Amino acid sequence: MNTNCKHDDSEYGLYQAISEEQKLRTWEATSDEWGLPFMSVQDYVAREKIQSNSNFTRNNITYWLYGKKAEFEKDPATLNFVSHAETYDRKAILRKANTSEVTDITCKGVASVFCRHEHRKKGHGKAMMSELYQKLSQISGISNLYSDIGDTFYSSLGWDVYPYLVVEIPTFSQKNTTIINSTKSDSVSLMDKDMARRFITADAIVARQELEEAPVAEHARFMILPTADTLDWRWIRDEYEGVQILKVQGFPNVFGAFNNSGIGNIDDVLNTILSSKSPNDIPASSLLPSFIIWTPRYRKQKIRILRARFNSAQDIKPLLDVAIAEANRLNLPKVVLWNADKAFHTTLKSQLDAEFVVLKDNLPSVATFFENNKNCEWLLNENYCWN
Ligand SMILES: CC(C)(COP(=O)(O)OP(=O)(O)OC[C@H]1O[C@@H](n2cnc3c(N)ncnc32)[C@H](O)[C@@H]1OP(=O)(O)O)[C@@H](O)C(=O)NCCC(=O)NCCS
Repeated sequence: MNTNCKHDDSEYGLYQAISEEQKLRTWEATSDEWGLPFMSVQDYVAREKIQSNSNFTRNNITYWLYGKKAEFEKDPATLNFVSHAETYDRKAILRKANTSEVTDITCKGVASVFCRHEHRKKGHGKAMMSELYQKLSQISGISNLYSDIGDTFYSSLGWDVYPYLVVEIPTFSQKNTTIINSTKSDSVSLMDKDMARRFITADAIVARQELEEAPVAEHARFMILPTADTLDWRWIRDEYEGVQILKVQGFPNVFGAFNNSGIGNIDDVLNTILSSKSPNDIPASSLLPSFIIWTPRYRKQKIRILRARFNSAQDIKPLLDVAIAEANRLNLPKVVLWNADKAFHTTLKSQLDAEFVVLKDNLPSVATFFENNKNCEWLLNENYCWN
C-alpha cells in the first residue's frame, strides 16, 4: 500500500470486522495509545478480551474497519485497514421539543477511534468518522463519544461537545470520621455490587418517570439510561488494572452508599420501583433515596463517581464522606464527580473543599439524529455514560 498518498473517499470504505484476527489487530494497534507504558501489549489485549466478554459488550460491540474497498472486496477478513473504531448500543430515552411523549431510542457509543501511525494526517480519520456518522444516523437516535483530542475534530463531524464540569474532592486532607467497614452509619448505608446494580436499575425507572412528568419544553431532552451491565463493565476494567497490573491487594466490596434515614426498608422501596409496570405506578412513598455509585479507578488515582442522585443538599456530605473514607483506605487522593447540579455547588465547595475543574480530555460529545434538535439537552451527563 502506498502510504504517501492522500485520502480519496471513493477508494475507501467502512466495514464491520468479521474475524477474531481483525479484532485482535485493532487491540494490538490501540495498545500503544491506551495501554503502554502502563501495561504491556499482552496485558492490554487480555483486558480488552475480558471486557469484550462482559454482559454489556458480549453481543454488543461492532468493530468498524476503514480501508481500501479493493482490499475488503478481495478479502472481507483482510488485516490491511488504515483506521478503526468501536460502537456499543446503549439504551436511551428522548422527549422531543414541545411534546409530552418519552420514547425509547438507541444510543451508539463510539470508542477507540484510531488511525495507524503511518496513515495519519491524510484525512482517513475524518473520512472514517464521517462515514460512521452516516451509518449511525440510519440506525440510532443519538451517538455519544468522549473526545481526548479537543473540541473541533468530532464537532466538525456532527458530535457536539456538551457541558463538562468536573468536581474534584481531595481526600487525604479531609477530617473524616466515617468508618468504611461498618455497613451502616447514622444516615448512610454502604452498597455492595448487587445493591448498586439494583439501585441503578431503579434509578433508570425513576429518571424516566421524572422526564415524563417534567413540563413540556421548547427544546428536546434525552438521557442515556444507567444500567447494571455498564457498571459491571467499568468494574471489570478497574479490577483488572488494579489487581492484575498494579497488584493491589484484592478488589474492594463497597461500590457506593445510600441515604437510609426515613426510608423504611430499602428492599421494599427498591422492589416497589423495580416491579412497577410503568413509571407512573410508583407511589410517592417509594422515593428512591439519595445515593452515589463509584468505581475505584486505580490507574487514574481516584474514586470515580459513576452516578449520583442527590435529593437534597443535606444528603451530599454524608454520602461523599463514605467515598472519601474509602479513597483514603485505598490510598487514592481524589473523589471525582461529573456535572453535579449547580444547586449543589456551594455545598460541595463549603463542606467538602471541592474544586471545579474544566478539563480538556474526555469531552462528552453527542450527535443527535432527529429533527428539531436545536439546543438539545443531555440529562444525566455523568460518568456512567462513558465509553
Ligand atoms: C485522532 C486520529 C484518529 C485522527 O486520525 P487522522 O487520520 O490522522 O486524522 P485526519 O488526517 O483525518 O485529520 C487530522 C486532524 O486530526 C486532528 N487531530 C489528530 N490528533 C489530534 C490530537 N491529538 N489533538 C487534537 N487534534 C488532533 C487534527 O484536528 C487534525 O487536523 P489538521 O488536519 O487540521 O491537522 C489519529 O490521530 C489517532 O489515531 N490518534 C491516536 C488515538 C486518539 O487519540 N484517538 C482519539 C481518541 S478520542
